[in-house]
Amino acid sequence: MSAGITGVGKYVPERILTNQDLEKIVDTNDEWIRTRTGIEERRIADDDVDTADMAYQASKQAIENAEIKPEEIDLILVATVTPDKSFPTVSCMLQERLGATKAAAMDISAACAGFMYGVITAKQFIDTGVYKHVLVVGAEKLSKITDWKDRNTCVLFGDGAGAAVIGKVSGDRGIKSFELGADGAGGKYLQQKDNYIQMNGREVFKFAVRQMPESSLNVVKQAGLSKEDVDYLVPHQANIRIMEAARNKLDIPVDKMATSVKKYGNTSSASIPIALAEAVESGDVKDDDFVVLVGFGGGLTWGAVGLKWGK
Ligand code: ACO
Repeated sequence: MSAGITGVGKYVPERILTNQDLEKIVDTNDEWIRTRTGIEERRIADDDVDTADMAYQASKQAIENAEIKPEEIDLILVATVTPDKSFPTVSCMLQERLGATKAAAMDISAACAGFMYGVITAKQFIDTGVYKHVLVVGAEKLSKITDWKDRNTCVLFGDGAGAAVIGKVSGDRGIKSFELGADGAGGKYLQQKDNYIQMNGREVFKFAVRQMPESSLNVVKQAGLSKEDVDYLVPHQANIRIMEAARNKLDIPVDKMATSVKKYGNTSSASIPIALAEAVESGDVKDDDFVVLVGFGGGLTWGAVGLKWGK
């Protein structure tokens, strides 16, 4: 028995900001945003809703879905670049609110690849038998570090949270392969500066269309499989053109890739668990499917996992 995902959950704020709404804020238009990014709308959290609030909602769902009690959680890992405070961490706030009395807790900062860093860290604790249940959360309130005067970035991001419980799964199910990486030399292309996200879109794009396809294929090969064996792809939801590059590399049809980017924009570390939770809920991901999760982000960072789905 190896480590796998035993439960998933998600939360997105109710407030919708459409491309047409953005036309009133900055010099942009719906057609530019849709054709360059695939985004149609995104969710924005109210002022009194914090990252920890969204993380809590997604976590509650994931814990229920995993059919465990909060007291059974051994470790909470929250991936976020928008913590409510530098300390206490979002993971500690979550530990209290969930009543996860036994759990250790820490935040992970790896930008949009944060959830992948969390899942792969959790896997190590499960495989060694040290822990039984690890809660991994990706939660972001990007709207608070978005420069609403900068059309290059403000059209891209949204708020939300996704969560997964990692534990032992049955038979030959579970995480078969993973890859993690970083390239600090590219950090300057995507950073928080003067409180806001600053990005060299073209450089990030070039990095992402190279890294996401490469990492996706690497985890398939590492699992001893070939492209034909891939049933579903959940890429980081940053830009449909970047996601398409990964899909083309794996040669899989359009309906085998999660595409929630059009509804939620780029929610950074939350995007993969939100997309995964929706794919499981809709039945797009079924027991024994071979699923690839792959992300990239500021840092620069990246991470991918190949897993056989099911408890
Ligand atoms: N509306 C209208 N025009 C715009 C907008 C906008 N919202 N934003 C930029 N433009 C203009 C620019 O000013 C520029 O105009 P100019 O040529 O007159 O100077 C032009 O559009 C830029 O065009 P392109 O460079 O051809 O745009 P491109 O096809 O590269 O798309 C984009 C830009 C969408 C930002 C793309 O580069 C991209 O997706 N990059 C990756 C971004 C990303 O994924 N970031 C998240 C990383 S994950 C994380 O860690 C947060």
